[in-house]
Amino acid sequence: MAQFTLPKNSKVKQGKTFSVPAGAKNKKVFRVYRWEPDNGENPRLDIYEVDLEKCGPMVLDALNHIKNDIDTTLTFRRSCREGICGSCAMNIGGTNTLACTKAISDFKGDISIYPLPHMPVVKDLVPDLTHFYAQYASIKPWMQTQTPPPPDRERLQSKEDRAKIDGLYECILCACCSTGCPSYWWNSDRYLGPAILLQAYRWIIDSRDENTGERLDELEDPFRLYRCHTIMNCTNTCPKGLNPAKAIAEIKKLLVSRTM
Ligand code: SF4
Ligand code: SF4
Ligand code: FES
Repeated sequence: MAQFTLPKNSKVKQGKTFSVPAGAKNKKVFRVYRWEPDNGENPRLDIYEVDLEKCGPMVLDALNHIKNDIDTTLTFRRSCREGICGSCAMNIGGTNTLACTKAISDFKGDISIYPLPHMPVVKDLVPDLTHFYAQYASIKPWMQTQTPPPPDRERLQSKEDRAKIDGLYECILCACCSTGCPSYWWNSDRYLGPAILLQAYRWIIDSRDENTGERLDELEDPFRLYRCHTIMNCTNTCPKGLNPAKAIAEIKKLLVSRTM
């Protein structure tokens, strides 16, 4: 029978409140999803009042301030703090984005922060990306060739061919797009999702790669590729301004063109 409510142990409960010290002039409230795998308790929403005079301008600055000075138990991923590594991807104010490039001033009221949606949670804001990375490995994201390389230089490509991977190579595999895609929510066991398909197209369109036919064969599948229904959430949410939906459409066009 269809179940229309969350299982009891998934319901998010009200958590603790950490009040800002008296006298703080620039207060902002962060509502942060918390879940610990070891205590058997439901997830909860902790409320942190942050004095914005005490931290930098980005959401990641506030999270670092919370962890360093308010509540050391809060767990989240981050590394580069400049939109390069993809590790601070989370759902902020209802949108999947990078905490390090999202300004606190973009939000008028309280800021709600959850892990990337529809992924298993390791702890707090840390999603389990094991399956996502396995899907990435499945598209063989490296250059495949049969011919030997030139003896005296790299494999070259023209400026025009190099330009074809613009808008693709910049993907940092943050998973904001895939975890914002309804088709991926329901079929991520078999559908590769926008991030991995954009990466697949990056190698398909690379003039130096010599396994284009095999790569297309691998994708010609009702689930791996064709679960994309062009809903465009992926493109709307990408924090790097990329267009995974277009890359998916280009793969579909190549598959059609080789049948003609
Ligand atoms: S396409 Fe954009 S949202 Fe998707 S993984 Fe790459 S950088 Fe992240
Ligand atoms: S365009 Fe395709 S990949 Fe992007 S959100 Fe929609 S269904 Fe998902
Ligand atoms: S910390 Fe690297 S992208 Fe945000």
